[in-house]
Amino acid sequence: MSGPKKQILVNAFTMNCVGHIHHGMWTHPRDRSLEHGELGYWLDLARTLERGLFDAVFIADIIGNYDVYGGNVDVTLRESVQMPVNDPWMLVSAMASVTEHLGFAVTANVGAEHPYTFARRLTTLDQLTRGRIGWNIVTGYLDSGARGLGLDGLAAHDTRYDRADDFLAVAYKLWEDSWDDDAVRADRAARLYADPDKVRPIQHDGPFYRAQGYHMSAPSPQRTPVLFQAGSSGRGQRFAARHAEGIFIHAPTPQAARKATRELRQAVADAGRDPYDVRIYVGIAVVPGATDAEAHDKLAEYLRHASPEGGVAHFAASTGIDFARYGLDEPIPYGESNAIQSAASAARERNATRRQLLEQHALGGRYHVVAGTPASIADELERWVDEGDIDGFNLTRIVTPESYQDFAELVVPELQARGRYRTAYAPGTLRERLLGGNGRLAPRHAGARAQRLADLTF
Ligand SMILES: Cc1cc2nc3c(=O)[nH]c(=O)nc-3n(C[C@H](O)[C@H](O)[C@H](O)COP(=O)(O)O)c2cc1C
Repeated sequence: MSGPKKQILVNAFTMNCVGHIHHGMWTHPRDRSLEHGELGYWLDLARTLERGLFDAVFIADIIGNYDVYGGNVDVTLRESVQMPVNDPWMLVSAMASVTEHLGFAVTANVGAEHPYTFARRLTTLDQLTRGRIGWNIVTGYLDSGARGLGLDGLAAHDTRYDRADDFLAVAYKLWEDSWDDDAVRADRAARLYADPDKVRPIQHDGPFYRAQGYHMSAPSPQRTPVLFQAGSSGRGQRFAARHAEGIFIHAPTPQAARKATRELRQAVADAGRDPYDVRIYVGIAVVPGATDAEAHDKLAEYLRHASPEGGVAHFAASTGIDFARYGLDEPIPYGESNAIQSAASAARERNATRRQLLEQHALGGRYHVVAGTPASIADELERWVDEGDIDGFNLTRIVTPESYQDFAELVVPELQARGRYRTAYAPGTLRERLLGGNGRLAPRHAGARAQRLADLTF
């Protein structure tokens, strides 16, 4: 590869709950996830991540519970597999108050929100954090959540994305089109707070949403928050190509990542955007040690606390398949899914039995795990970035906050020495840091102010 080496972007991947990806790890004596209901836990985490110069804390969320495995929530509750799960957005102001640069990429399900009120909430947070907000747009994959919201069940997979498109159309109009940059004057002498000629109501009459009115908040530094997305079915890729600025993919190898990034960048180009106007992330876990032996001893110790069954209960909800119904070595009829199609088709390709699934979830989850010295981990991360054509990682917590601390103390200096990781934060908003430019949606993005938004529909 010629030219300067690509800098590696890193988000801390977590959730406002006990078990997130590596299920069972709450039983480890050093794990602090049992404290997720305490503000101190989140403030400590924010400070740790900023010391490690992480780009952002990426907070996953679900609406509903995992009740597919065994047709109930027994394993889900016993192992605390994302149940209980608290609201992720309530953490942001507090974590922002003890940091200056750390970004917040936070998940919200469009099916549980209305764009008129949601857009105001994010504008508020983007003001309070001076432009550090990102939104991980999800469409939901749990019938339990849909039932909780009063529906009979989830809408069809592609229809969920159609609704999300329409949600975004309303949100772009509110964020980008309702207030001009110079609308707020706050001129005491002239008794002019905002110039009425520079503020206008939006009008939207789409297939799912109707909205008419002014954006309730004045513009925030980024206007539209940095948009993240994580679905990778065909319809999911089309949605990502249109909207996403950060895309989170699941890939077992750098080669698989390369295939996914090639498709995604092509889809972004087909949507009229620059294929490198998106940052692509892979989820990964690292276990660094001063020596190889130390790292592998630590991994062995972690493995003793993990719950493979908790991991499979999580995977059952992702794919919509009740694995508990099958014997350990019985073939499982993998079919079509209305849940996460990309997870279901990957499972179909692997065609694993329940015994094999339990083995794949040895550390409670299916994320790729790299254990070794800081130098060998840095080699592996560089290989993923260069061979997979990705931009960075969502780093999972095995034991929290230990996994993030280990990364910051052991791996970051090694990546810095290789010129692959920042040595200080540059000033500016989250979007400026991740994507450069003037901090606004790129001019060719469908939601940008440069476009004619008044009649935007998708
Ligand atoms: C790596 C990854 C992370 C995801 N994180 C979340 C999440 O935090 N909350 C959620 O509701 N869905 C999450 N999803 C589900 C996606 O947002 C999307 O709804 C799902 O993948 C269905 O899209 P697909 O069929 O296009 O893959 C995630 C998916 C992937 C692949």
